[in-house]
Amino acid sequence: KKVVLAYSGGLDTSVILRWLQDHYNAEVVTFTADIGQGEDIEPARAKAELMGIKQIYIEDLREEFVRDYVFPMFRANPLYEGCYLLGTSIARPLIAKRQIEIAREVGAEAVSHGATGKGNDQVRFELAYYAQQPDIKVIAPWREWDLGSRTKLIAYAEQNQIPIPKDKRGEAPFSVDANLLHISAEGKVLEDPWVAPEEYVFSRSVSPEDAPNKATEIEITFKAGDPVAIDGVEMSPAALLTKLNELGGANGIGRLDLVENRFVGMKSRGVYETPGGTVLLTARRAMESITLDRGAAHQKDELMPRYAELIYNGFWFSPEREMLQAAIDSCRDLVNGVVRLRLYKGNVIVTGRKSPNSLYNADLVTFEEGAVDYDHSDAHGFIRLNALRLRVNKLTQDGKN
Ligand code: ARG
Ligand code: SIN
Repeated sequence: KKVVLAYSGGLDTSVILRWLQDHYNAEVVTFTADIGQGEDIEPARAKAELMGIKQIYIEDLREEFVRDYVFPMFRANPLYEGCYLLGTSIARPLIAKRQIEIAREVGAEAVSHGATGKGNDQVRFELAYYAQQPDIKVIAPWREWDLGSRTKLIAYAEQNQIPIPKDKRGEAPFSVDANLLHISAEGKVLEDPWVAPEEYVFSRSVSPEDAPNKATEIEITFKAGDPVAIDGVEMSPAALLTKLNELGGANGIGRLDLVENRFVGMKSRGVYETPGGTVLLTARRAMESITLDRGAAHQKDELMPRYAELIYNGFWFSPEREMLQAAIDSCRDLVNGVVRLRLYKGNVIVTGRKSPNSLYNADLVTFEEGAVDYDHSDAHGFIRLNALRLRVNKLTQDGKN
């Protein structure tokens, strides 16, 4: 039978590939995607060929990833548990979607992935598989085999002539996941949440101390809720996020050290870098600050934690995520204009915002007498009525009511 494997070309998924061939007698179809992890994906072809794979899918999904997943998610200004920009969470549904499409193309009855049995990623992959192909068979080797220890995995690789990179012989110091939105490091040397991450953990940003002493000033242009240009130069979604990563990373922006609650129940410590996403979040909020009505903006903020939790838990392909997305997108056409920012030693500082459909009304807010009808005596009654229950409350407390 045929199995479509999400194949990185690395040691772990190469062992999985061979194990599927051995254990399930499966004809494996590999799928390797470039989602901006920063590694060449072409070597995965030669490796798969070496292992006898006939159907090899290698695809550049960077534009689709940013345009159809990252940007729609950012319209919600998403933060899980107040700080995580969901870099890994948002990539899994796209990989799963393509895997299912490929499974249909090649007539495979099963799909397989390399996520462990303790994490969120297994949930995200598999919820997305089932949402699209209810009768798909899922093979999660990490939950099935007895190669749980590094020693056993290496021994299996050796027995099966799977090349083992030098740095993979020993225990890797932590587990990494990377794409165009972020790079994450978890586990091993990072497991004690009190122990600070060493500088070698970071690869996408300089430390704020080492960032330039001079701020980098940039302007981001938004159209219909999404960023479309930097300093007036229009760019594709993936090119724009790549550029923001460079600008942010060079200024020490987007480092995060957190303890988060995994969907499966345990707490885990992660060290993430999301330079471009961090710049984008601040810029989006500044853009919305002049283009969205207060009621709409506050409503978005109320929906946000729920939306972020859905993404984190792997419910991208769900009716409730689509409902929230529709609500969030209902005001995206208003979010147009330009935001000016200074990037400086880990900080993203907004210094200006303008929009062709700005709601900001200088006449209304000015301390001088303005042209718009604002009657000061209206404020008197407004405050008195709002104070009514506060006064009753105090009188009652004092036994005077
Ligand atoms: N804890 C983060 C999340 O759940 C990052 C997971 C990283 N995944 C990995 N396979 N290393 O989104
Ligand atoms: C994994 O277990 O595959 C990585 C961690 C996670 O998914 O949360």
